Amino acid sequence: MSYGPLQTTRPYGSEDPAFTQSTGFITPARPQKGTSKWIKIGIPVAVLVIAAAVVGGVVGSRKHSSSAATSSAAQSAAASSQASAKLAEGVFATATNSLYQIPVYPSTTNTALYTTPTVNTAAAGWPSDPFTPASPSVQTMRPDRPRLIAPSYNDPYLAYWNTSIFNNASQYDALPAVVYFMDGDSGILDVARQVKQRVKAFGYVFRMTNNTHWVDRTWEELQNAAGNSSGSTWVAGGSDRWNSAHFLDTGQSALASELSAAYGIAYDWMYDYWTDDQKSMIRSTLIEYGLGPGVQALTNSSVFTGWWANNIEGNWNCVCNNGLTMGSLAILGDDTTGSAAQLLGLTVDNAKKNCAFAVSSDGTWSETDDYWYFGSTGHAEMAASLISATGSDYGLLTTNPDFWKTGLFHIYGQGATGLFGYGDSGPNKYTATSNSLILYANAYNQPQYALFQRDQTDAADPWSMFWYNPQLSGAFWDGLPLDYAFDNSTDQWMSMRSSWTDANALYVAIKAGTLQGHQTHNDLDVGDFVIDALGTRWAGELGDGDYRSPDYFSNDTQGRQNTLLVGATNQDVTAKPTMQFGTSNTTQGSSTVFTPPSDSTAFFVTDMSSAYFNVTSVKRGMRLLNGRKQVLLQDEITAGTNFMWRMHTNATVTPSGTTATLTIDDKKMDVSILNAPSGAAFTTSQAVRLSTDVTPPAPDQPNPGVTVLIISLPAGTYNLQVLFSPEWNDGSTAVTPPSVDLDSWSLTSHN
Ligand SMILES: *[C@@H]1O[C@H](CO)[C@@H](O)[C@H](O)[C@H]1NC(C)=O
Ligand SMILES: *[C@@H]1O[C@H](CO)[C@@H](O)[C@H](O)[C@H]1NC(C)=O
Ligand SMILES: *[C@@H]1O[C@H](CO)[C@@H](O)[C@H](O)[C@H]1NC(C)=O
Ligand SMILES: *[C@@H]1O[C@H](CO)[C@@H](O)[C@H](O)[C@H]1NC(C)=O
Ligand SMILES: *[C@@H]1O[C@H](CO)[C@@H](O)[C@H](O)[C@H]1NC(C)=O
Ligand SMILES: *[C@@H]1O[C@H](CO)[C@@H](O)[C@H](O)[C@H]1NC(C)=O
Ligand SMILES: *[C@@H]1O[C@H](CO)[C@@H](O)[C@H](O)[C@H]1NC(C)=O
Ligand SMILES: *[C@@H]1O[C@H](CO)[C@@H](O)[C@H](O)[C@H]1NC(C)=O
Ligand SMILES: *[C@@H]1O[C@H](CO)[C@@H](O)[C@H](O)[C@H]1NC(C)=O
Ligand SMILES: *[C@@H]1O[C@H](CO)[C@@H](O)[C@H](O)[C@H]1NC(C)=O
Repeated sequence: MSYGPLQTTRPYGSEDPAFTQSTGFITPARPQKGTSKWIKIGIPVAVLVIAAAVVGGVVGSRKHSSSAATSSAAQSAAASSQASAKLAEGVFATATNSLYQIPVYPSTTNTALYTTPTVNTAAAGWPSDPFTPASPSVQTMRPDRPRLIAPSYNDPYLAYWNTSIFNNASQYDALPAVVYFMDGDSGILDVARQVKQRVKAFGYVFRMTNNTHWVDRTWEELQNAAGNSSGSTWVAGGSDRWNSAHFLDTGQSALASELSAAYGIAYDWMYDYWTDDQKSMIRSTLIEYGLGPGVQALTNSSVFTGWWANNIEGNWNCVCNNGLTMGSLAILGDDTTGSAAQLLGLTVDNAKKNCAFAVSSDGTWSETDDYWYFGSTGHAEMAASLISATGSDYGLLTTNPDFWKTGLFHIYGQGATGLFGYGDSGPNKYTATSNSLILYANAYNQPQYALFQRDQTDAADPWSMFWYNPQLSGAFWDGLPLDYAFDNSTDQWMSMRSSWTDANALYVAIKAGTLQGHQTHNDLDVGDFVIDALGTRWAGELGDGDYRSPDYFSNDTQGRQNTLLVGATNQDVTAKPTMQFGTSNTTQGSSTVFTPPSDSTAFFVTDMSSAYFNVTSVKRGMRLLNGRKQVLLQDEITAGTNFMWRMHTNATVTPSGTTATLTIDDKKMDVSILNAPSGAAFTTSQAVRLSTDVTPPAPDQPNPGVTVLIISLPAGTYNLQVLFSPEWNDGSTAVTPPSVDLDSWSLTSHN
């Protein structure tokens, strides 16, 4: 099954020639400048029933377009029956896998609801924002508030998220104001993001209830973060903890920017309830610690260090420009210092030049898949704030014509138990979520992005309430290819799976790609892979190291993970691997219950010789076998020195010569070396640095419960084939594939 053409009123120019795997995807619509249809400020007819109770409270004085009310009777009837069906079904994912927090879909067939992702624009008419300036200017605000990422409502998802946000606000309410805590470059950001997270929840509940308790509670956080309340830990030795004097340093710039966003949201969403004194205090702290230093960072050549503002195609640029923008939009007009106006003349262009290009031509985020959360959140917040406040994104969404593919990057990077998670994976998220997907679904006309994200655990976020288009219908998996290859030379990775909706599905992801060009968040691990099956992760990543370790970010020298280690030496950071791939292009249909055909397969092959010293050739291939029930990992190596095949696992490993049994709880995975070369056998070790390791002696974090499965071999030429056979216990039998050289791999080579 494949996607039909989308109903859209916004046809978009030409096909993207670089995007060759276009079977399942929709050519993106260019967001219309000025009309911002996807900022929903009205009440779609389809959702009138549910929305009525909500919109009054949220939209406040904003008038909705009358066009919705004039839809034809037939359209209304169709739309309302669809709305009833949606209501009856409710949220698709019925539970969350408690270990991995992955949505669990019911095993059912519902061909009426589980359909091709669609935007029902014709059915219900999506009223556009009445604020549609003909010539938008960053200095010309919409007449009413809120300005930042503005509202409207409905549908089971919105109702569910609303309740969660109320619960979250109550939980935060019961806690003391956020305590400042200095914990290295990433840790200091946590406290800023916690403040922002609370302000978002308090602001949301306030606008839904008009209960001024939430204004007072927000004031407590703002004063505390300004170091103004007694007992506040946000001052030390008379100096502020936003570290405004160090706005250009790593850490501090993002901290002050996240706090600037928080202050901006508080200022804007509670605007009518602040006293003039409070407003003036919020502005003075925001300008002194956030916007003022931001202006210096972007303009003063004598302090300009070339840090985040200059050629940083990564999350830092998105986070900083976004925080400065949200803070500036919120106070423009009230700010007598000129900082807000000056910044708005700088941040948009800077983000368009840098942040927007953190996405490469295949959609991959430069800093790997965990940092995507921070970067895409900053990008999405900035675009949405500019649109709601001024009527245009000024091209932030479109200046990189490939930005839209970053939704595919995230969706394919999520396996059956969690992210592929290569590179630095692990910092706390707080306000960084995947909800940019909900915005991008509308902005790029990719309804499957929002349909995917709405069932995820981090979807209950105030932004989702405003970004989610309740006129979307269908199931994200219906027609979505199971495999996807990301083939930019910097990235080179592939995602392959047996199902989108089965929590026990097989998922394999493997990467090659250059080791440089990832803002130092990469590891030295061409050939790294993960495997999920039976609801658990069998081959996994170690996550990020301790960011306070010496030289952690000074060069791309962080080691290892699930690949070959030649001569007990890290890979060559200048490696330029190649990749090839094949996929049967299998797509899942409507049902959540899906068994791929027996010849359904996918494979990835990389020549990674350039990643190693002392080798003649190293090629690695990985493929799915037996109707996507087994995995073959094949390495063809000619090495001038000894080497190790290594894989990290949480399983209890029982090695026995050329086979090993991996056990996690009551699940088992059989691993065997096929056609085993002489001397090849499994051994294990703890996940610790080799004593002979030549890299700087960093204080490695412990990896409790992790075992390394190893095959050690001396110099020589080998064809090492390792077969992974999960014990499915579903009546299927494992197969032993033929031995085929990597150069001869094809979609049918192992049938
Ligand atoms: C909140 O106050 C606004 C402005 O006075 C009003 O329009 C809105 O109806 C009120 N909402 C609720 C839920 O009371
Ligand atoms: C949002 O949740 C709150 C708290 O559960 C509830 O009082 C309110 O009615 C909800 N609003 C909507 C529109 O569901
Ligand atoms: C917010 O609420 C949801 C649902 O109640 C919960 O799963 C989540 O952990 C809460 N988030 C925080 C940060 O408390
Ligand atoms: C914090 O205190 C300083 C010094 O009195 C004042 O200038 C600033 O406006 C205050 N800010 C807040 C948010 O209370
Ligand atoms: C630029 O930065 C320097 C060093 O901090 C400072 O002395 C100078 O006043 C700044 N210039 C402007 C125009 O702000
Ligand atoms: C990879 O993406 C970058 C943009 O990040 C682009 O400049 C480059 O041309 C792409 N390379 C290939 C081989 O597509
Ligand atoms: C171990 O399990 C955790 C989840 O509990 C997962 O995040 C991690 O990646 C696993 N590690 C390995 C090496 O598989
Ligand atoms: C990484 O940086 C550190 C310190 O800057 C240096 O000692 C080390 O040699 C560098 N390693 C490589 C491979 O460049
Ligand atoms: C899969 O789709 C791609 C892109 O459309 C196409 O080039 C390739 O031939 C297809 N493969 C199969 C086996 O259908
Ligand atoms: C290459 O192998 C030789 C012999 O094992 C060893 O002495 C040398 O250090 C190795 N070179 C590198 C760069 O690993």
